[in-house]
Amino acid sequence: VYSLAAPYSTSDKTSFAYVSARDRWPIIITSAIDDTYRSVSQCDSDAAREEGKKIVEELARLKYELQHDRQLTPIRDDGSPDIALYNQELELLGTPTWFNVPWLYSECYLYRRINTSFSLSTHWKDYDVFARQKINTFRSSRPAVLELAARYKEIVQQLGADQGKQIDAEREEAQKILFYEMCEICLWGNATDLSLLTSLTYEDIQKLQGSEARKASEKNILINDLDKAYAVLKKAKDAGQEDRRVDIVLDNAGFELYVDLILAGYLLASGLATLVVLHPKSLPWFVSDVLPSDFATLLNALSHPQPFYENPSEDEKLQGTTPPPLSLKEVSELTFLFEDWGCLHAEGQLILRSNPFWTHPGSFWRLPTADAELFDDLKSSELVVFKGDLNYRKLTGDAAWDPTTPFTEAIGPLGPGSGVNVLALRTCKADVVVGLQPGEDKKLRATTEDGGGDSGARKWAWSGKWAVVSFSGGKER
Ligand code: F6P
Ligand code: MG
Repeated sequence: VYSLAAPYSTSDKTSFAYVSARDRWPIIITSAIDDTYRSVSQCDSDAAREEGKKIVEELARLKYELQHDRQLTPIRDDGSPDIALYNQELELLGTPTWFNVPWLYSECYLYRRINTSFSLSTHWKDYDVFARQKINTFRSSRPAVLELAARYKEIVQQLGADQGKQIDAEREEAQKILFYEMCEICLWGNATDLSLLTSLTYEDIQKLQGSEARKASEKNILINDLDKAYAVLKKAKDAGQEDRRVDIVLDNAGFELYVDLILAGYLLASGLATLVVLHPKSLPWFVSDVLPSDFATLLNALSHPQPFYENPSEDEKLQGTTPPPLSLKEVSELTFLFEDWGCLHAEGQLILRSNPFWTHPGSFWRLPTADAELFDDLKSSELVVFKGDLNYRKLTGDAAWDPTTPFTEAIGPLGPGSGVNVLALRTCKADVVVGLQPGEDKKLRATTEDGGGDSGARKWAWSGKWAVVSFSGGKER
């Protein structure tokens, strides 16, 4: 028997739920309107243009309803079975208004609802209203991308050269540290999420991404269970287990997907895994989340790095600026990445597996009953890595837990005994947090800049500056 603390609600004015609904969502809908409008103006066909205008109107209406605290209306049926889930839950919640509704449900509803304006159309069915933003931000993370490409090539070649060699204690320690570093790169890649871009500049993003920044950020990891995750993978490897799979429940496209692939490639090259399964979303989600098409877009950019980085973007054309050319070394490092990942993908060691469950409205507490097949599938993995803030909110039910609640308890049915080894790599961008030491939350509120003080708000946890890396051994009891 599990019990969940009370979920965060948009009615709680001290929560980021309220700030999100009031300030962030209107901006996100506006950016969707602008993007659609831009595509409408580039349309050749009259029919598509007319339909596009209708979509813009629908999005504007959604924004109006939100800002005027109207009731959430049932989502129109676009033929996908998840619509019924959304609407049943809406009814169970008593058809609430925008500023008095559980945060997790309403935010998922928002993206599902935006999507139906496109999915119900004829000409815009698969249109990704956030694609432009995703690829532009990836392009602007060029310095960190190049730095990591160079590092990746070095590491993979070194690991190749080390293969079959005797491993002494010192090397063993070095391998563990490398694992931590790769995971930390992957963790901080989550700090740059487009849905928070409303408050971060490109310069801020670049500062967040370099290796110096990463070292400095280590003190901002409040809980670090990477040793436990490493022990699990190392044990399977040393036992000579033939199939050793790691799953990554992806979060954002662009730079974060790039670092996820760096981690995946490293795990395969080091033999800590023999198969990596990536789980993308099936519809445009929380602005920046990965769709299968984002994976293709990223590989495509890496396969032709010069046109991607050197041809001026639409904005650069307007400003009359030209980006600096890539050096030959940089081109060869990016090409190395592309070939390495392309090869892993072609050989079936790196695969994508979509599932509609990831865009359901509820938390992951529902996984065992909502999708027993997916649950069983995850049990056959050595480690399931959940990236990012939303996945953490879903793991913990987005509930107002006492912050000292153990992570293993807050994830309910996915905790010990579930058969699933869970590792959350999360930069904090929402109120929920568990696994802290007694007094830690209070101290962070009081001592960090804009930490919330005694306002009753846990503001330190909203900015992506702090992180938690939490493990739960589901194969233990
Ligand atoms: O807290 C801001 C926010 O946009 C939340 O709405 C959401 O949980 C999260 O960030 C998305 O971040 P991530 O991409 O890390 O899941
Ligand atoms: Mg996201």
